Amino acid sequence: MAMDAAKSFGGQRFMIVSLFLIFFLCVLASINEFRYETLSKFGRCALSNIPQFNDYSSANLSVADSSSSDDEIRILIGILTLPDMYHKRHFLRMIYGSQSPAGARIDVKFVFCNLTKEDQHVLVALEIMRYNDIIIMNCTENMNNGKTYSYFSSLPEMLKGEGQPYPPYHYVMKADDDTFFRLEKLVASLRPLPREDLYYGFVIPCHSMDPFVHYMSGMGYMVSWDLVEWISETDIARNHTEGAEDLVFGSWLRDGRRAKNRYNAKWAMYNYPEPKDPCQHEFWPDTIAVHTVKTPEKWIRALKYFNFTSNLKPSKLYHIP
Ligand SMILES: *[C@@H]1O[C@H](CO)[C@@H](O)[C@H](O)[C@H]1NC(C)=O
Ligand SMILES: *[C@@H]1O[C@H](CO)[C@@H](O)[C@H](O)[C@H]1NC(C)=O
Ligand SMILES: *[C@@H]1O[C@H](CO)[C@@H](O)[C@H](O)[C@H]1NC(C)=O
Ligand SMILES: *[C@@H]1O[C@H](CO)[C@@H](O)[C@H](O)[C@H]1NC(C)=O
Ligand SMILES: *[C@@H]1O[C@H](CO)[C@@H](O)[C@H](O)[C@H]1NC(C)=O
Repeated sequence: MAMDAAKSFGGQRFMIVSLFLIFFLCVLASINEFRYETLSKFGRCALSNIPQFNDYSSANLSVADSSSSDDEIRILIGILTLPDMYHKRHFLRMIYGSQSPAGARIDVKFVFCNLTKEDQHVLVALEIMRYNDIIIMNCTENMNNGKTYSYFSSLPEMLKGEGQPYPPYHYVMKADDDTFFRLEKLVASLRPLPREDLYYGFVIPCHSMDPFVHYMSGMGYMVSWDLVEWISETDIARNHTEGAEDLVFGSWLRDGRRAKNRYNAKWAMYNYPEPKDPCQHEFWPDTIAVHTVKTPEKWIRALKYFNFTSNLKPSKLYHIP
């Protein structure tokens, strides 16, 4: 009898201590969650997160698992290029490495097919060691024979992994290496858009403003992650990889009746002001992307117009007028 009483007293004490512990952890978690303004999860702690007493080992009471960056947009920009374009990559790394838009994680990666020369085995490996921003797909180098298909369809398998957030990226872009993206403007344009079934870009033909009429220009188009997964699985894409890559891409979505959400970024995206063509536009402040920036002179004119280097830190080490 006395033994039983002691046991049950011990049990009660254990329960009281446990309840205090849970209460404390909930308070801790809710403080953390308030900080990130995800009030909706507050209720969850009060109810479903309370573990069974015998269940501590499997319960996730860690405050770290209350998602810390719900509003951070994750974007992959894949620039399709060739292994030998070392200088171009070096230049684009400066262009994108010196932009860091708030509230977004943007990975810019260079995408190409199998290496074909001995020197590439060393030089590209060196680049990867230093920058880790290269994707080499299992394909033979080509422009309009499925490189874009290889890119989108390889990603789900390549990015699958333990500890990865899901989706690894909300949006995946294919961009040209002669397109200049202003990442802050890009992120601002994405913020109000859906994260599912989205197709974003510059509608072709040039004079059209209707994003459902045809397809988005290869200068730089983007889809949400669900469409990347769909492309990697569907016969519609696998069976049809030949042809102008942007047009073919648009035809997959049309044939699969995908991309109910479309966003035409024209005229925040356009071709370089010269030479005249129907897709060009003058520079203007709200520009997201300029395409056909094909010479150093054009890059310099664009960077100057957008005040790209104007926040250079002053220093005694250099003087730039
Ligand atoms: C606890 O959370 C971690 C990280 O989020 C996760 O990997 C693990 O599977 C979770 N454990 C349980 C039992 O839910
Ligand atoms: C790469 O592609 C070739 C030809 O398409 C195929 O035979 C090979 O198994 C693939 N290798 C890998 C690692 O996927
Ligand atoms: C690409 O290279 C890998 C390994 O180096 C090889 O297994 C594969 O067959 C090559 N793929 C093509 C399409 O040439
Ligand atoms: C794709 O090609 C395969 C084999 O040729 C065929 O069986 C399948 O029906 C095709 N699918 C589509 C959607 O065209
Ligand atoms: C660049 O800076 C100048 C001078 O401060 C300013 O007048 C101009 O509007 C800026 N241009 C852009 C695109 O922000």
